[in-house]
Amino acid sequence: MNPAGLIFVLALSTGTLALDNGVMRTPPMGWLAWERFRCDIDCDHDPKNCISEKLFMDMADRLAEDGWRELGYVYVNIDDCWSSMERDANGRLQADPKRFPNGIPHLARYVHDRGLKLGIYGDFGTHTCGGYPGTTLDKIHTDAQTFADWGIDMLKLDGCYSNATEQEKGYPLMSQALNATGRPIGYSCSWPAYQGGLPPKVNYTLLGEICNLWRNYGDIQDSWSSVLNIADWFFDNQDILQPAAGPGRWNDPDMLVVGDFGLSYDQSKTQLALWAIMAAPFFMSNDLRTIDSRSRSLLQNKGIIYINQDPLGIQGRRLIKEKSGVEVFWRQLSGGPSVLVFFCRREDMPYRYQTSLKKLNYAAGTYQVYDVYEEKLLSTIKDSTDFVVSINPSGVVVWYLVPAKQMLTDTMLFGGDRLDIPNRL
Ligand code: GLA
Repeated sequence: MNPAGLIFVLALSTGTLALDNGVMRTPPMGWLAWERFRCDIDCDHDPKNCISEKLFMDMADRLAEDGWRELGYVYVNIDDCWSSMERDANGRLQADPKRFPNGIPHLARYVHDRGLKLGIYGDFGTHTCGGYPGTTLDKIHTDAQTFADWGIDMLKLDGCYSNATEQEKGYPLMSQALNATGRPIGYSCSWPAYQGGLPPKVNYTLLGEICNLWRNYGDIQDSWSSVLNIADWFFDNQDILQPAAGPGRWNDPDMLVVGDFGLSYDQSKTQLALWAIMAAPFFMSNDLRTIDSRSRSLLQNKGIIYINQDPLGIQGRRLIKEKSGVEVFWRQLSGGPSVLVFFCRREDMPYRYQTSLKKLNYAAGTYQVYDVYEEKLLSTIKDSTDFVVSINPSGVVVWYLVPAKQMLTDTMLFGGDRLDIPNRL
């Protein structure tokens, strides 16, 4: 046996759990049906919005034709309520024949033909949260193989209708089963969300070895209070969560609801900025067929995407929570640049926040500052000099900072070709 073979056998015999699928080295981006379209299965009365192959084909068309795919939004993800209520004669899951008349493999080809990837939803338990057939321990291999045979690229494995003891077995087993198919399938684990999201019940080291991303916390809704509640939980627990993230393993604060009904323009900017600081997956759950142009520009902001997709994959942190209601967040990017997000939870009027880079722990020196949403280069700032930022109610100001000793050129800013800077130096 050659050395490679030997190592392979050793790896198998020690029962290694490592999820070695090579995917999602930066946070995955795309579209996910749940928040916006839920379990609408009434295709007779609501054909445009019901969970059907048509909905996913429509979204694939939009991703491919409206400039999303080129920016990295490549996943088209099915959530709950896609399947038939019964498994087939061979015990395999099957799509609802009425709503997916051409079946999932056809949908996968449709999506792949447009340079996109297809994600699907399963649930480790007797039923999905919506009451459809779940994946119990004895079905894990069958379902992993079915998804691979269909050409699936990502699996979100929910955890309704299973208990903690079962989940401890099921989630690692599905990881192994997906690996064993030989098809790289991104693996999203809802496991921690069902165990309170925190140690000792949740083992983030293990999750990083077996899952590519994981839902830590409750479901997002189409409202500002929901976005705020989720952001607060993630940053309140950042000492635990932040070290867990890295290339191939991401915390998932849930979908982007930008482009829906619940967030104002400023609140939309805030969700995007905080999710970028968190190195969170960017799964939009909105209607790409009817999205308004301002929401689309925010979701397609190249600076925000560039920050979110930083290859170093270090999740950012909250630096300060001021009594005034201002909070400052920070993320280190690869190669020297960093990001600051000034967020204001006040509800009165734009708030003038005064601080300095030194107060925000920056090393002595001068920094070039680029305002990401304004798409404007600001003057250089010395660490010790106080400055004032005006932050809108429930809004943000996002700064991309480059140490001045690293010459600021178009190429440096967001990698040049990935961002057209309207106001060049
Ligand atoms: C759970 C998940 C949601 C969604 C629904 C589907 O609530 O957390 O993201 O998948 O189930 O029923």
